[in-house]
Amino acid sequence: MSDKLIIFDTTLRDGEQSPGASMTKDEKLRIARQLERLKVDVIEAGFAASSNGDFEAVQQIANHIKESTVCSLSRANDRDISRAAEALKGAARARIHTFIATSALHMEKKLRMTPDQVLEQAKLSVRFARNLVADVEFSPEDGYRSDVDFLCRVLEAVIDEGATTINVPDTVGYAVPELYGHFIKTLRERIPNADKAVWSVHCHNDLGMAVANSLAGVKIGGARQIECTINGLGERAGNCSLEEVVMAVKTRRDYYGLDVGIDARHIVAASRMVSQTTGFVVQPNKAVVGANAFAHASGIHQDGVLKARDTYEIMRAEDVGWSANKIVLGKLSGRNAFKQRLQELGVQLGSEVEVNTAFARFKELADRKSEIFDEDILALVNDESVTAEREQYGFVSLSQKSETGERPHASIVFTVEGREVQSQSDGNGPVDASLKAIEAEVKSGAEMVLYSVNAISGSTESQGEVTVRLQNSGRVVNGVGSDPDIVVASAKAYLSALNKLQSKADRVAAQG
Ligand code: KIV
Ligand code: ZN
Repeated sequence: MSDKLIIFDTTLRDGEQSPGASMTKDEKLRIARQLERLKVDVIEAGFAASSNGDFEAVQQIANHIKESTVCSLSRANDRDISRAAEALKGAARARIHTFIATSALHMEKKLRMTPDQVLEQAKLSVRFARNLVADVEFSPEDGYRSDVDFLCRVLEAVIDEGATTINVPDTVGYAVPELYGHFIKTLRERIPNADKAVWSVHCHNDLGMAVANSLAGVKIGGARQIECTINGLGERAGNCSLEEVVMAVKTRRDYYGLDVGIDARHIVAASRMVSQTTGFVVQPNKAVVGANAFAHASGIHQDGVLKARDTYEIMRAEDVGWSANKIVLGKLSGRNAFKQRLQELGVQLGSEVEVNTAFARFKELADRKSEIFDEDILALVNDESVTAEREQYGFVSLSQKSETGERPHASIVFTVEGREVQSQSDGNGPVDASLKAIEAEVKSGAEMVLYSVNAISGSTESQGEVTVRLQNSGRVVNGVGSDPDIVVASAKAYLSALNKLQSKADRVAAQG
């Protein structure tokens, strides 16, 4: 048994399935690059057959990522598998991940297939996939709630067909650590050819135990791959969180005795990038990446940490990429210094044009805000106006008037397919007036289901980061905008959400 623990990141596939977390092709590539920098072993880039957009995203990632294996999900049928193989053609290392449900409930109610039909379909699919790529992962969906005898038959058969990784999903987050660990152990002990495949765990967080279950799958069950997402992003309560599981294995190497290839110094930047791209804000007390994760508020703790850090710290903040709110650049910083800081933060912009646009935005920001923090730079490069993606709507300028006792009024200029339009409205507050002014022109009819403001670097001098979640015709999208003026940040977030609603993609749900 190898002592290496494979980290399989599915932020761009299972994470993106979270309502509102959908990302554009370029956003996905940016995150994939950050995952490569993190030295993630496998990047699940998407579900190629689910939509043209996902196909192109997987293809683009496969063409650019050279260090990590690039994987596409696919249902257990020839069409999906062929699409996945086609999208992965340019990959240095390609994996097809095919799945079919094996629990009695899913087979009967969802698939309307008999167990024998499912077994046959699983075998045929793995055989078909193995003719296209050498690296094939098989998942029995809802595996943890499946009959163990039937599951043993299916998994033995797919390993015989050439599956190189067997992943056991706890699709609905029902498992508890000891039972899940023993479940994996039983499967590995009972399946005669179990040693021909790498065993993998995939846990959802419905009971808040995804990380604990995954670790038990490794420690008790002997699994050597963990499937996880940055910030634990994912449907419902999310997936196993990469930063937590990785730091658990690294910090408690004495117990797990496993090597992980992850370069943890890029974790915080990855977390910021995913949260700013999706609009899913990280809670302050989240382990490893939350704003308070390394803050010692109580006097006793502060005193202890000042005398000897290890009195209260089990990890060093800088080892996971916290740079203690350093003032990095100012008004007088030049393009080279800016570019170097981007590199230090692990940000690679697509082209020199993007660097120039980002630098121009940085200068504008530095004129308005004397201290520029790393968080500001990360927010800035996530801004749609920096990435050269053609968007339907773009922010130009805004003015608003609010005074005690008066109804606020806003006037906004924005672009619609490159053409400037001007619109105005009053509202309950300046934000409400600004968004109503946009809506008066766009008439999207979308319902706002979430509005939240977050101070990027923690003081009133910082930029406000606004998330707007819109719902329209069954689609849910998040838009994110940042600016020192939160009314402008709100307008940018609203326009960004409208852009995402525009890029309609009828996707097939992975668990559909
Ligand atoms: O949770 C799950 O079952 C999945 C599979 C598609 C692997 O995400
Ligand atoms: Zn899943």
